[in-house]
Amino acid sequence: MPDSKTHWEQVYSSRKPHEVGWYQAYPEIPLHLIASTGANKTAAIIDVGGGASNLVDALLENGYCDVTVLDLSAAALKATQARLGEASNQVKWLVADITSFTPPRQYDVWHDRAVFHFLTEAADRQRYVEAARAALPPGGHLIMATFALDGPPQCSGLDVVRYSPESLRQAVGEGFALAESFGGLHITPSQGKQSYTFCRFIRN
Ligand SMILES: C[S@@+](CC[C@H](N)C(=O)[O-])C[C@H]1O[C@@H](n2cnc3c(N)ncnc32)[C@H](O)[C@@H]1O
Repeated sequence: MPDSKTHWEQVYSSRKPHEVGWYQAYPEIPLHLIASTGANKTAAIIDVGGGASNLVDALLENGYCDVTVLDLSAAALKATQARLGEASNQVKWLVADITSFTPPRQYDVWHDRAVFHFLTEAADRQRYVEAARAALPPGGHLIMATFALDGPPQCSGLDVVRYSPESLRQAVGEGFALAESFGGLHITPSQGKQSYTFCRFIRN
């Protein structure tokens, strides 16, 4: 079994962004959740484990001007940068493991779609939550999308932890209040259905 970094580098080196199961042509729910924060266009937004997602493209198109994309995989970020072309210069890029990440600054919005659920070890979840606590000031928003309790037990060949809004609230623990949650279906490029839990928390 390759380590996590090797796994994700292989995924993004061997598949085009639209060929992966988590591909979304347009990130409608992430944009809705980010708009729900009330953050203005100069708000600092970090997409944690953003991979080759189109979210950064949509954020720039919507006028957000302080966007950071972090991912374990340099290949994923390279694909996104190539797609964005010139516009990639407006974005801050971080190749980092979120479980050993020391935020260099604070953010108003932390967005994670389908990343936290790969953390099957309690110690890794703890380090993730500590990074989010350090990164978000009081009033900052933590947006998370994970597979739901009736979602698949694996993604990209890796085991995941599935969450309800309540178990995700417990996983993020003290320091965050649940502001909004709902379920939703993601349709994969091969027409599979994946049930997700979406939560938005506010930093106390
Ligand atoms: C299922 S993909 C989701 C990508 C993106 N959020 C989206 O919605 O399209 C999971 C992403 O998390 C990244 N990832 C996995 N473990 C990570 C870690 N420990 N630190 C940072 N990124 C990680 C992977 O490289 C991959 O891009």
